[in-house]
Amino acid sequence: MIWIEGQQSKSVADFGTWTNPLHTFPLNSINLLSLYLLPTPSSWLASLRCLLCRYFISRWLELCRLRKTTLMPMERRVQAMLLNFVLASFVFLILIRDGNAGITSSFIRSEWPAVDIPLDHEAFAVPKGYNAPQQVHITQGDYDGKAVIISWVTPDEPGPSHVQYGTSENKFQTSAEGTVANYTFYEYKSGYIHHCLIEGLEYKTKYYYRIGSGDSSRQFWFETPPKVDPDAAYKFGIIGDLGQTFNSLSTLEHYVQSGAETVLYVGDLSYADRYQYNDVGLRWDTWGRFIERSTAYYPWIWSAGNHEIDYMPYMGEVVPFKNYLHRFTTPFLASHSSSPLWYAVRRASAHIIVLSSYSPFVKYTPQYMWLQEELKRVDREKTPWLIVLMHVPLYNSNGAHYMEGESMRSVFESWLIQYKVDVIFAGHVHAYERSYRISNVDYNITGGNRYPIPDKSAPVYITVGDGGNQEGLAAKFLDPQPEYSAFREASYGHSTLEIKNRTHAIYHWNRNDDGKKVPTDSFVLRNQYWGSNRRRRKLKHFLLTVMDEVVNM
Ligand SMILES: [Fe+2]
Repeated sequence: MIWIEGQQSKSVADFGTWTNPLHTFPLNSINLLSLYLLPTPSSWLASLRCLLCRYFISRWLELCRLRKTTLMPMERRVQAMLLNFVLASFVFLILIRDGNAGITSSFIRSEWPAVDIPLDHEAFAVPKGYNAPQQVHITQGDYDGKAVIISWVTPDEPGPSHVQYGTSENKFQTSAEGTVANYTFYEYKSGYIHHCLIEGLEYKTKYYYRIGSGDSSRQFWFETPPKVDPDAAYKFGIIGDLGQTFNSLSTLEHYVQSGAETVLYVGDLSYADRYQYNDVGLRWDTWGRFIERSTAYYPWIWSAGNHEIDYMPYMGEVVPFKNYLHRFTTPFLASHSSSPLWYAVRRASAHIIVLSSYSPFVKYTPQYMWLQEELKRVDREKTPWLIVLMHVPLYNSNGAHYMEGESMRSVFESWLIQYKVDVIFAGHVHAYERSYRISNVDYNITGGNRYPIPDKSAPVYITVGDGGNQEGLAAKFLDPQPEYSAFREASYGHSTLEIKNRTHAIYHWNRNDDGKKVPTDSFVLRNQYWGSNRRRRKLKHFLLTVMDEVVNM
């Protein structure tokens, strides 16, 4: 079953067993007390409703028992009828309200423990041959998808930094020259890290490429996206907080099978900072080899999380993002950004904005100033889909990292609504959660509304911090589930966003269910710009096309 925005139905078929906290509210002194202690008016109402509902049900059952055992007088019969009517009204009202209630999945996973894969496991296998290129990964190299950055590491000596490439297998007619550098982290010395930009590619074309030299050279391929076009169909995968456990491996294998063409990565990559001294660098290397099965062929659009900061003063390492920035480059200059940590790319029909949760973002900072300008550059006539990536979610009803995104929300939320962002993907919280379209822009410290409210202009917020890293799952959700939360589940997985055209996209979250990929949460995402008033947009588009033709005659 797929949910359509604004028409969420509530079949349990797709979710296995689940419980809504509002329905599991026993009538006892604790809950009576909670009526006075619960934090939001919605919780008050929910609690009151449950209490009244339970009272009427108990009275009705009592009357049913009486009717069976005794001959009821007319007065009691009328009373019973009235009670039936009131009860039916309550049930009706509950059903209406629960049309928008969120779901907390009760799925409990029982899989592998959250420990990293051993160093000698084949998932980290070093390619054969002297100085063979390893840790190969590609990302978009320009603003519009006609360039690719290919990165790799040579372990023994620098070797060549050029990439040979072409459109036929084993025929590499063209070559591009890259750069090479290495660095130290404590006493760890990195391999030689190469980055090579390949520009001027054709859209929607398969390219084969070769790196390294002699018998140790290796060949891979990638496909460029379709031309930037409002109706270009494209399928993105979304992964966050992956790490390098067997759960991470399950997520990665499921993503590879998904048919998605590019990963939108929402931060926290290797979790190498869980180690110390030379093992930090070592675990960055294993992660590079671990993800190569996907990243050598499919571009991953990177954003950074807290596990990329690697601030370790006791080891003399105080430069933030040192390992990450040496290894993972981004096309930030193409979007006029001053840092690889925040930037934008356009791919097919999507404009993707990457933000850095751990870089300054308040007013007058470079990230703030850049985002202000980048949002003005978004042209929904060319790229109807506006997607934002960040690591820390702005809305999160999990006990883990609760409210950590509040400072960024207070700075950027009004822009996200003004520019009608379609969807915001985040990680950080090791669970899955999807929100309804809500906003809280009126909140301020001197008064105003303190609660998120339904807002058709607001983005959908999706947290996909469930890649499978060694820190395990964040299983303690706030109870009761806030009204802005549509679906949440504490288990591992990944998402896909399949853009069909300028108006609609299909979203899936796929749970790793004991090694199997299980589509668990799905809905049809309606475009914020084109979906709301398609006819008017179509007319505007038609008139602009005609005017273009007239001008060019
Ligand atoms: Fe994180």
